Amino acid sequence: VRYTVVIPAAGKGKRMGADENKLMLTLQGKPIIVWTVEAFSKDAWCERIVLAVRPEEQGWFERQLYHLETPITYVTGGEERQQSVRAGLQVVDPNGIVLIHDGARPFVRIDQLHAIAEAAETEGAILAVPVKDTVKQVTAGQIKQTVPREALWLAQTPQAFPAADIRAVHNQAERSGFIGTDDASLFEWAGKKVTVLTGDYHNIKMTTPEDLLFGEAILTKEDYQ
Ligand code: CTP
Ligand code: MG
Repeated sequence: VRYTVVIPAAGKGKRMGADENKLMLTLQGKPIIVWTVEAFSKDAWCERIVLAVRPEEQGWFERQLYHLETPITYVTGGEERQQSVRAGLQVVDPNGIVLIHDGARPFVRIDQLHAIAEAAETEGAILAVPVKDTVKQVTAGQIKQTVPREALWLAQTPQAFPAADIRAVHNQAERSGFIGTDDASLFEWAGKKVTVLTGDYHNIKMTTPEDLLFGEAILTKEDYQ
């Protein structure tokens, strides 16, 4: 299976609280985005990497990633993640499979990339992990109810789709003003099927400052070097 990956990298990282794009922060001395992009450049199935970036940061990304052999195409991201992904999808070959992966998830492993790419040959597929904690629905500081946990999964990326289908759905969502927090939610919104593959709890997103600490710990395991 061959695929293209679209990596949105045009966020501001507000919840991280750094004064730069959080993807520029380092783990073991290497910027987060370099860990993420290298995970794909090491995968022979990955034909091309499309990075959605803020125009004023593109030069920095190019300097960090020039050493990789997999071709990288840069597009300009938007105000919302969804717009950044949509910009990336416009330059993808519609006849193939596309993976969409957060720039902020550096710990995705090659076996997961292959599983998700294979699952996406006919429909959408995402990686997700079962919720571990008890989940409460809370209104004004009071518990409304305890949500049964058995059916709850936390969505991760990569999420994979036939490229023409996800591009059409993104364009349709743009016209309708529908915004989802991930790409599968657009597929669902359009009434299309999405398969869930069990992911890995290591595949965390660098979102708040303590995630950097967890990230450093994950990198001490040799499968992530
Ligand atoms: N992203 C993007 N364009 C945006 C917003 C987000 O390309 N307008 C990217 C981020 O760079 C990140 C991924 O989407 O790689 C996941 O988003 P998130 O973790 O929310 O990152 P940020 O939006 O940067 O962080 P925050 O929401 O805390 O501001
Ligand atoms: Mg965000």
